[in-house]
Amino acid sequence: MTKSIFKIPRIIGHRGAAAYAPENTIVGIHTAADMGVDWVELDVKLTKDNIPILFHDDTLDRTTNGSGNVADLTLKEVRDLDAGHWFGDSFFDLRIPTLEQAVDALIERDMGVNFEIKPCAGREKETAEVVLDYLSQIWDDHSKILISSFSHVSLEIAADMANDWARSFCIGGGDALPENVAELARYLEVKALSIDGNTTTPEQLLGLQDLDLALLAYTINDPDLARELQAMGITGFFTDEPDTIMDGIFMVH
Ligand code: G3P
Ligand code: MG
Repeated sequence: MTKSIFKIPRIIGHRGAAAYAPENTIVGIHTAADMGVDWVELDVKLTKDNIPILFHDDTLDRTTNGSGNVADLTLKEVRDLDAGHWFGDSFFDLRIPTLEQAVDALIERDMGVNFEIKPCAGREKETAEVVLDYLSQIWDDHSKILISSFSHVSLEIAADMANDWARSFCIGGGDALPENVAELARYLEVKALSIDGNTTTPEQLLGLQDLDLALLAYTINDPDLARELQAMGITGFFTDEPDTIMDGIFMVH
């Protein structure tokens, strides 16, 4: 079966360049750009007052000096937190960015982006609606954006609101691989699957190769594994260490 043409770079800086700068921050976007990375992946969720921000976890504890649920804080409260110091002493006074600030930095650096819609539980619909409503007003270059999510509900909204944008369905591997992945991907009208490259088995990968979808693997920081996955049909890699993986894979097919 001929695969649809879906142009996505082989290297996508995961959460910016998460091994080198605090994840999901403006500094992370610039760090990736400075390394020569063309695309980054960033996680988006909503504050209590419905402002889209870059943030991965449901709770503040791991990546800020705050604690508790991010969904319980307004933007003003979120912006009071330090989002860099946990990563290293040199990252001081970093704030959790809004989606708008992230877009400004991406445009300034001429980068492509995979926005992963990462809703807090129960906010799957509104997170996708707010994010896509905002992006559809300001993001012109459809060749440089990919919308993804683990949430079926968020992807249903994306299929409705951003039907002509490339979209990817995030799934786990091993026991977490959905049995009906082909059916779900068709229903959600995605062009790609973002799969867990560390747990998806070779047998599972073989099955996924038959689908007319681009296969992207997260989160790959080992160049040997990247090469193996590339030989099994993976065309894009989410990586915390873009330099390591750039050196490890074949950049041209
Ligand atoms: O979108 C790929 C990857 O980022 C999914 O996992 O947990 O890092 O958001 P996670
Ligand atoms: Mg992500």
